[in-house]
Amino acid sequence: MDMTKIISRAIQNKPASRRPSQAAGFDPSRLVRMGFNENPYGMSPKVLEVIRSSADGANNYPDFGAGALKKAIADFYQLTPDCVLTGSGSSAMIDMLGMTFLNEGDEVLLCMPTFAAFIDMAYVNGAVPVIVPVTEDQRYDLDGLRKAVTDKTKLVIICNPNNPTGTYRSSEEIFDFIESLPETVVTAVDEAYIEFAEADDCKTMVPYLQRFSRPVVILKTFSKYYAMAGVRVGYALSTPEIIAEMNKCPAAWNLSLMGQAAAVAALDDQQFFSECKEKIVHSRHRLTEEMQNLGCTVYPSQTNFVYFSSPVEPTLLKQKMQDEFGIMIGAYEMSRVSIGLPAWNHAFLDALAAIIDNCTK
Ligand SMILES: Cc1ncc(COP(=O)(O)O)c(C=O)c1O
Repeated sequence: MDMTKIISRAIQNKPASRRPSQAAGFDPSRLVRMGFNENPYGMSPKVLEVIRSSADGANNYPDFGAGALKKAIADFYQLTPDCVLTGSGSSAMIDMLGMTFLNEGDEVLLCMPTFAAFIDMAYVNGAVPVIVPVTEDQRYDLDGLRKAVTDKTKLVIICNPNNPTGTYRSSEEIFDFIESLPETVVTAVDEAYIEFAEADDCKTMVPYLQRFSRPVVILKTFSKYYAMAGVRVGYALSTPEIIAEMNKCPAAWNLSLMGQAAAVAALDDQQFFSECKEKIVHSRHRLTEEMQNLGCTVYPSQTNFVYFSSPVEPTLLKQKMQDEFGIMIGAYEMSRVSIGLPAWNHAFLDALAAIIDNCTK
């Protein structure tokens, strides 16, 4: 069969997915998981209890409109529920962004490295990803993006703080940047990690939603701070007009019953998650310091991971960590390690020291 005759042009042009699959003989559950920016402290006991009890009713369909969750999110941010879109992870929000705004040939402007799903989303919709490298200090290059705007630019992606670099741009910088764009350019601000930030000027753009004179969608997830990566709940915030259009996408109606109940419970259990944050931020400082002592360049992180360069090439370091020490980390232009439990962080530092030692002898 000639696949080119049956597969859409958009999918033919899209590079294969890079996400690892257990079906490929790879079992991440057997490794120390410091590669996916998951929250090692897990869900709160209250959230777990709600998932267990809501499972009893899961022979029935959920509320397709996720009314209780939208209300809980809206209350949390002092918005109205018609400003909220929900779905299976912020990955679903990214899909809906593409489906709602992109036509074939539109340009999607973003910095690299960033979260790869944005590139996938551009390809899937027949759009063209236009890439501006991050600055030398590994920050999102807002000036570079501004210069790269053309009359074909439809969507600009800002990941703040950025994955995998961990660095950020201040809310004021982002606001000014967005306001400088042409009126028909949509900006998506992905804030998957913003809850881990401690810098005073690294803040969510939600309070700016009413001030923007340009179309803006803010993407959020319960996967990181709320430790619900396996439950798959994400949401987007924007104006009621934009949310109503995004809501036409089928993925807007597909959030599981357990996910909806768990997310409401998580928002209601702030104390538990702020204690986890404290531990994660403490470990972030410790890891940064210790890695610097090992001769690594470590970029200041506002997230639950750390981006660094070491004397060992990133792919080789990732391979050695996995094969020799059973520790999973990320490899990009540089290396990325997610903050784990203290014992994992120690194991990672020991492994890093041994690998650097071995490779630089
Ligand atoms: C920046 C960023 N956005 C979105 C996501 C996707 O999160 P979700 O689990 O909600 O689909 C990730 C996951 O790693 C991410 O790093």
